[in-house]
Amino acid sequence: MKPIRVGLLGLGVVGGGTIEVLRRNREEIARRAGREIVITHATAKNLQKPRGFSLAGISLVADANDLVTHPEIDIVCELVGGDTVTKDLVLKAIANGKHVVTANKALLAIHGTEIFAAAQQHHVMVAFEAAVAGGVPIIKVLREGLSANKIEWIAGIINGTSNFILSEMRSRGAGFESILKEAQTLGYAEADPTFDIEGIDAAHKLTLLSAIAFGTPVQFNKAYTEGISKLTDKDIKYAEQLGYRIKLLGITRWTSAGIELRVHPTLIPEKRLIANVEGVMNAVLVKGDAVGATLYSGRGAGSEATASAVIADLVDVTRMLTSDPEHRVPHLAFQPDQLRDTPILPIEKVETAYYLRLSAFDKPGVMADVTRILADSHISIDAMLQKEAEEGEDIVDVIILTHRCVEEGANAAIKRIESLATMAAKVIRIRLEELN
Ligand code: HSE
Repeated sequence: MKPIRVGLLGLGVVGGGTIEVLRRNREEIARRAGREIVITHATAKNLQKPRGFSLAGISLVADANDLVTHPEIDIVCELVGGDTVTKDLVLKAIANGKHVVTANKALLAIHGTEIFAAAQQHHVMVAFEAAVAGGVPIIKVLREGLSANKIEWIAGIINGTSNFILSEMRSRGAGFESILKEAQTLGYAEADPTFDIEGIDAAHKLTLLSAIAFGTPVQFNKAYTEGISKLTDKDIKYAEQLGYRIKLLGITRWTSAGIELRVHPTLIPEKRLIANVEGVMNAVLVKGDAVGATLYSGRGAGSEATASAVIADLVDVTRMLTSDPEHRVPHLAFQPDQLRDTPILPIEKVETAYYLRLSAFDKPGVMADVTRILADSHISIDAMLQKEAEEGEDIVDVIILTHRCVEEGANAAIKRIESLATMAAKVIRIRLEELN
């Protein structure tokens, strides 16, 4: 059978990895796909730039528009990133009957609904395994492997840069800024590190996971996003003393009122396997009603790890080219006319537990006032830790762990606590999930 011809948009780290792995494992991949998969054309912003990999046998195309419309290309592989120019190119490729494989989470989280509709109209596939958790095949797990289950919730460490920063802050007791610089030097951070540290990259990925898990359209604009840039090593240390680790978690949960879709720093018990996923590694915990909790972990970024997911999609598309378009695995796991408009809950309606750190003047009655406010708000206390005041200081840190409650109730209680004359600073609040 004729080889499948791939046109590559982007010759960066992942593009290079894809060329290398396809070349190295060519025979093995062809045995799996049923046909050879060959990158015949490629384009990049600067075609003159020296690269650390060979482009032998690949025709370089100066204009990306010529690549996405090229009559000899079957699959367009988009490894550029961004959601403006690439959106036009991907839509053009689809309109020209090309299947698309992409690692672009921002593009699909923001414009997925439009792109999947176009793909359906033109009977082509848009595959995006590499967009979430790099080499970890989590899209396939949710879309196919767990399709018997009603998914209850997903909790994931899906940004390696922020996990690296949090791991190093905990193990070395170092501050946020210095570790961020280290992460940038090591090449972990996105071009704009804001996406990593403010939870935006994780929210893009979570949006895709949530849509596939619950059969809803992709709605990045409804995700609650809070990053790690304001976390202090002090809270990481107190959490550890209470038996917890702080991770930047993407959490999506089905409730009868709607879907929780949130990324924020979260305390999780240190005995959970996922709490021990450290450094740049990613991990996704999925709770299905039939299977129970399952954990998937691996490298969430990097040249060949991400190429592994890109090529798996190339193999999938190659195999699916021999099947009836109406019976392919749907883009979002559910049949397009079966998507539901289950509401995504605003963060005020989300239910979670909390770690609260209060800076209080060391005076009688402080704790009585605080516990009364919590009791009035029906917030039950799970644990409490009061640190001794530093020598010569009259301010103490009081740490309270609460049981689960609705966020708007916690907000009101925190506001009342902050208005007490005995409070020296704003309350630090970090959400806590037992994940059991
Ligand atoms: N910058 C991302 C991360 C990798 O740190 O996880 C690609 O998604």
